[in-house]
Amino acid sequence: MNYYENVLGLVGHTPLVKLNRITKDLKPTILAKMENLNPGYSVKDRIGVAMIEAAEQAGQLKPGGTIIEATSGNTGVGLALAAAVKGYECIFVMTDKASTEKVRYLKALGADVVVTPAAARPGTPDHYVSTAQRIARETPNSFYPDQYSHNANPDAHYYSTGPELWEQTEGKLTHFVSGIGTGGTISGTGRFLKEKNPNIRIIGADPYGSIYKTYKETGEIIEATPYLVEGIGQATLPKNFHAQYVDEVVNVSDHDSFELSRQLGRLEGIFCGGSTGTSLAAALRLARDLDESALIVFIVCDTGEHYLSKHHSDEWMKEKRLLEPQKITAGLISETKGERGPESLITVAANERISDVLAKMNEAGVTQVPVVEDGRSVGSLREHRILSKVLGNRDLLDGPASEVMEESFPVLDVDASLSEVTRELQSSPAVLVEEYGRITGIITRHDVLDAPTINSRG
Ligand SMILES: Cc1ncc(COP(=O)(O)O)c(C=O)c1O
Repeated sequence: MNYYENVLGLVGHTPLVKLNRITKDLKPTILAKMENLNPGYSVKDRIGVAMIEAAEQAGQLKPGGTIIEATSGNTGVGLALAAAVKGYECIFVMTDKASTEKVRYLKALGADVVVTPAAARPGTPDHYVSTAQRIARETPNSFYPDQYSHNANPDAHYYSTGPELWEQTEGKLTHFVSGIGTGGTISGTGRFLKEKNPNIRIIGADPYGSIYKTYKETGEIIEATPYLVEGIGQATLPKNFHAQYVDEVVNVSDHDSFELSRQLGRLEGIFCGGSTGTSLAAALRLARDLDESALIVFIVCDTGEHYLSKHHSDEWMKEKRLLEPQKITAGLISETKGERGPESLITVAANERISDVLAKMNEAGVTQVPVVEDGRSVGSLREHRILSKVLGNRDLLDGPASEVMEESFPVLDVDASLSEVTRELQSSPAVLVEEYGRITGIITRHDVLDAPTINSRG
């Protein structure tokens, strides 16, 4: 019979997938190591079970024990899967930077989750690591793995990720690229690959604002500044970052990380997190100066499912001013107008009584509405125009909208660009948004004024 004893049998042995469309103008082959295909959807599944089994062997974790860890989410999942199989309780401490999806996922796996402010400085009581350490001290029969210094973290990659890559590429890989969180992935994998072939280049991908690039180049620890990508980068230097196995660290902006993570989904069907975009950005920058003889492998760290409310959402990207202006479409503007989404588009029918129309506009706080029949715009009404007509002839109040309506507002397709919308609004107070033959939104001049301009280092 062909089955695994439990879900932990599925951890590791993840496939390599070749990129094609994103790399079509590049000479080297770039391969994605699909760690998002682990049962917990991230690279951290490898260290979850490894740290628990090391603790069991060392007698640090007893039956019925409670595992407590500080995590950006993925290590928590790796630990929670192993804890579920082995019958341990879990308490995870995360910062409020972590996505809602990750918090819900951990709770769904039976863990308690404590969320602390991301702004708390390392070493202060509110910091997520200090909080986890305190809870561990206060909880009887508890085990605090501390992924930032536990040997089983880099060792898990030395004994699994490294050997897999060597075997899968028949030792032909020339470059390995990875994000750096605790440092476990790049240090363990890097140590193994360097032992096999010291010429293999190990490249770290680091968000602007994190300490690793400067530390690698100067040995100094800079003052970290915030960035949005999750799971990588650091403000303090973890014991598990072994710089001697890393040749170079490159900085990548949130904008580029998120843009490439989104492109991996759209152009290669690889649905992944932002830190994967960070690694890919570093791999692409590298590849531009290399020829066909280079074989680059980068880590797909986790699934995009964790970020549906974040960088995989146009609204969030727009809100964070990370969406390219040319990506701002009529559809996106009408969808992200604060509380008024397409479902609350105010329209009137041609046969609606004008007095009812005025009441509806007043209640909704709008001064202009489209007249819509069967999903199509047949006219428009503006409050001040109606009122001036009604002042001249009160009977109009009891008449239908069709009697006082004016020509329709311009109608644009949902994919129309920001500049097309802006052009129409120069001659009309509003434009309508149409999708598959139905009016789904309205955009006024106000709505466009708060359409974002991109910030480069975001
Ligand atoms: C999404 C994501 N990417 C990358 C990493 C980096 O892995 P490591 O901690 O092994 O450096 C992490 C670590 O938590 C992560 O969550």
